[in-house]
Amino acid sequence: MHEQLINPTLEKFRAEFKEEPEHIFLSPGRINIIGEHVDYSDGFVLPAAIDKYICFAVRKLPQTNLCTIIAKDLAQEYTFDVTTEIKPVRQMWANYILGVFSQLQKPENQFYGMEIVFSSTIPMGSGLSSSAALECGFAYILNELFDLQLSKKEIAVIGQKSEHTFAGVQCGIMDQFASVFGKENKVIMLDCHTLEHQYFDADLKGYNLLLFDSCVKHTHLTSGYNERRKDVEHGKKVLWEKFPDVEKFRDFTTTMLNSVKEEMGNVSYKRCLYLLNEIKRVEMAAKAISEGNIEYVGTLLTETHAGLSTEFEVSCNELDFLVNNTLQQEGVLGARIMGGGFGGCSINLIQEDKAEEVIKNISKKYLESFNIQMKVYQVKISDGIKEYTNEYII
Ligand code: GLA
Repeated sequence: MHEQLINPTLEKFRAEFKEEPEHIFLSPGRINIIGEHVDYSDGFVLPAAIDKYICFAVRKLPQTNLCTIIAKDLAQEYTFDVTTEIKPVRQMWANYILGVFSQLQKPENQFYGMEIVFSSTIPMGSGLSSSAALECGFAYILNELFDLQLSKKEIAVIGQKSEHTFAGVQCGIMDQFASVFGKENKVIMLDCHTLEHQYFDADLKGYNLLLFDSCVKHTHLTSGYNERRKDVEHGKKVLWEKFPDVEKFRDFTTTMLNSVKEEMGNVSYKRCLYLLNEIKRVEMAAKAISEGNIEYVGTLLTETHAGLSTEFEVSCNELDFLVNNTLQQEGVLGARIMGGGFGGCSINLIQEDKAEEVIKNISKKYLESFNIQMKVYQVKISDGIKEYTNEYII
């Protein structure tokens, strides 16, 4: 991590600002074991933070009002005045940050200038939540530097709202929550209705979670993400009109859903059916993990893929190909597309000593069929956002 991330970020900071940073922060991406698209529908999700990070090198500048941020990997820079009104801008990455700042710009919060360089090992557009890491990382920095007394939950919610207001994506809370609340070797079971959560040991008993990056890039602003949310909102409206006493979406039964199928229309029906089944799968997966029944976790992952592909319709040919072919390999318990969809990574549960062979076979097949070199990430389940306090002088 030093060689690849922290040292280059430090060097860039020194080269640009001719000073030492005062702090280094690490904000992680996430995987999601199961529970896709249910975070905005009162569901449960099972994500975890991973050892791929955005690294921020930061220094306060009390003598100015200017905040200068350098996105090292993009070779771009953005400066804003902390005392002026903040509006969305053309650079997308800057919007994630500005969306956070605009929520915290209140009379009781006194800000002044800052110099920041950030760099990342979280691939962008691959479904590993680089945007949540950026939003929450920046909120965390402001909280530490200006003593804003924000709770971890507030940081996650501020990150999510930045995405809604400045980035235009109506995402749920899962990515931000995982980036902030991650714990080494633990998966998080999050109830997205109450934001209550518990941790489970991520003991996969001789199996690995491997990510296969299709290298089909997506951005949820232009993918069908917001459209899926609309389909679901329509479905919920019809359900609650008929059954007004039901408190949470996950309390609807499939019998109730079937009874309003016609009024709802086929598209929203399929979306809601997938969601209700997926929420149940997450509960079953959490139980299976805690009982060490990893085989069943694999079965559930594969069922999720089928639902995401045919009912929620957020997969694509490349990901269907990766998943279907991976499932035919020896030592594979389950596979599915991960994250918002429309590209990105598959997550695969593979026997440790079979992983190399599976990777070799699938890479070859994928290259032959799509002329794309798939990337493989073996990630470790890691802590959420934190200040990096080890010695970092190179
Ligand atoms: C994206 C969103 C999340 C969640 C997932 C799908 O990552 O940011 O809120 O909806 O898609 O599970």
